[in-house]
Amino acid sequence: MEDVMEKIVSLCKRRGFIYPGSEIYGGLSGTWDYGPLGVELKNNIKQLWWRTFVQERDDMCGLDAAILMNAKVWEASGHVSGFSDPLVECKKCKRRFRADQVGDKCPECGGNFGEVRQFNMMFKTQIGATEGEGAVSYLRPETAGGIFVNFKNIVDSFHPKLPFGIAQIGKAFRNEIAPRDFVFRAREFEQMEIEYFVRPGEWESAFEEWRQQVHAFNAAIGIDSSAVHELEVADGDRAHYSKRTIDFEFDFPFGRKELYGLAYRTDFDLKAHMEASGADLTYLDEPTKEKFLPHVIEPSFGVDRTVLAVLTSAYTEDELGGETRTYLKFNKAVAPIKAAVFPLLKNKPELVAKARGLYLMLKKQIPQVMWDDNGNIGKRYRRQDEIGTPYCITVDFDTLGETPDLKDTVTVRDRDTGEQERIAIADLASKLAV
Ligand code: GAP
Repeated sequence: MEDVMEKIVSLCKRRGFIYPGSEIYGGLSGTWDYGPLGVELKNNIKQLWWRTFVQERDDMCGLDAAILMNAKVWEASGHVSGFSDPLVECKKCKRRFRADQVGDKCPECGGNFGEVRQFNMMFKTQIGATEGEGAVSYLRPETAGGIFVNFKNIVDSFHPKLPFGIAQIGKAFRNEIAPRDFVFRAREFEQMEIEYFVRPGEWESAFEEWRQQVHAFNAAIGIDSSAVHELEVADGDRAHYSKRTIDFEFDFPFGRKELYGLAYRTDFDLKAHMEASGADLTYLDEPTKEKFLPHVIEPSFGVDRTVLAVLTSAYTEDELGGETRTYLKFNKAVAPIKAAVFPLLKNKPELVAKARGLYLMLKKQIPQVMWDDNGNIGKRYRRQDEIGTPYCITVDFDTLGETPDLKDTVTVRDRDTGEQERIAIADLASKLAV
């Protein structure tokens, strides 16, 4: 399976999905750059998430808060004192490791480790030109912080009725001791998070509802459901704010690891921010006229881990027409390119003109279409298979009217079966619709 990971990493680099960060300078560990196809794939996933969990529901509000926040936010949330991983340093080679990921001896040189100490994972930075503690800020380690701090703003602007949620997609940063496994554990990554506010007595049913929603979303974006497993996180292993957590684990090529988390954060955060800021964050529940701090269910989705799970689920090797091939079996909704348009031959101006016209027309309706006239048709099919394009459309002499009955029809070749059908140009948009 490790082998599959290497193949995915190599395909991602070669075909422009994901590149190592700062590569021409030797890289920067824990950072990754999404190339032209990667950004389309990632945006498709984020847009589907936003549509499903914000736009199609009437109990959700969206938010896009600043990444830099007042340091007091992270003091109140417990991240300054408690958001740390255990660190050990090898006495001999001075390399550092996460204590829970190594044995008794240094895996690099066999040396002994010093004492285990706690290493805070937040990136510290300085705001403005002033030096000193007053100017310290942190890059947010989770997007959730911005949601809690805007809770009162949103309640005052929209008066949402409980239960309701606030959703946000954005970057988060963690100074991971050991970034690894491609985009799985990075230092800069993206999260899609929801804080769902409920009456204290209703947390269990909301938790259950979100558990189902997570599975439904996975299925909608083409994550292999047989590779997703729930793990009830034990008492001592949960984050400091959580009374119950389920991890949704996925069978990545490097092992079964956390894909998403679902946590019951109680009123921990609103209470902590109310005490530290002095702002009244209580909610007046109209039906009962009671004032209280709502409790929170938090589904938290890592965007990059989603991309990796989608890539892993889609990665397929098979045999087609007597040849082995590698392709990405993306579902239509997430595929970075929905269709590619080819002229049968590159050196026939009338074919090229017709194909180009069709390509430009389709692009207006479906922006994620691609033009390709390089090499023979077989090579073009292989290239499109490798990036997961569901359909290849070829303009040939029949399209031009060589067989009068077939004028203005094209061949549409299916990625998964390799089969072709002839379709009228007028019917293409509905064939390609997601
Ligand atoms: N607000 C809750 C929270 O941040 P978490 O389990 O620490 O909880 C949530 O993170 C999700 O963010 C994870 O399930 C994972 O998908 C993603 N994530 C966390 N650390 C990551 C990292 N270093 N690299 C990539 N994704 C990460």
